[in-house]
Amino acid sequence: MDSAHVESDLVNILFTEEQIQAKIAEMARKIEADYDGEELLVVGVLKGAVMVMADMARALNRHVEMDWMAVSSYGSGTKSSGVVRILKDLDTDIQGRHVLIVDEIIDTGLTLSWLVSNLASRGPKSVAIATLLRKPDAVAMPVDVKYVGWDIPNEFVVGYGLDHNEKYRNMRDIGTLAPHVYS
Ligand code: IMP
Ligand code: MG
Repeated sequence: MDSAHVESDLVNILFTEEQIQAKIAEMARKIEADYDGEELLVVGVLKGAVMVMADMARALNRHVEMDWMAVSSYGSGTKSSGVVRILKDLDTDIQGRHVLIVDEIIDTGLTLSWLVSNLASRGPKSVAIATLLRKPDAVAMPVDVKYVGWDIPNEFVVGYGLDHNEKYRNMRDIGTLAPHVYS
């Protein structure tokens, strides 16, 4: 879906499809360099990371394996609490493997820090995080985010996998949702 179809729901377009693709290519070059000569398993966190995983995997000019996890974090309202339940686990045994978690946004970082320690307990060679977007609260988190596309302000954004009540995930661009949509 083009953002023009939901123009009145958005305050602005933060990143266009072209800007997103350029950023993912830039991140892919760093990942290729850092994991040169090593096998790599990229893990996407459903459902938000579907778009960034699909584009990141294709931007990487090397073999990667892809796997998926689905987690639900319980929290009050729109904030996550750090209490996480696995809805779908990896199909892959990650023992002795380099794992790169690919995510679309880190807000508090609670979900990902739980996920990192969960995966770390399975004996991988390494676990790292790549996220397209990061909000200010996550900068303070102890979770080590190796690759960040953009740091963004603390606003609710949609598109490119990011939803509000399961809508807008299929929007090509990333935009700031207008308060009238959620209030
Ligand atoms: P946290 O880092 O544990 O707070 O949770 C991150 C998750 O919250 C993301 O994977 C998204 O599903 C959701 N989320 C956080 N901020 C936004 C946003 O601005 N738009 C849409 N989803 C968001
Ligand atoms: Mg997510």
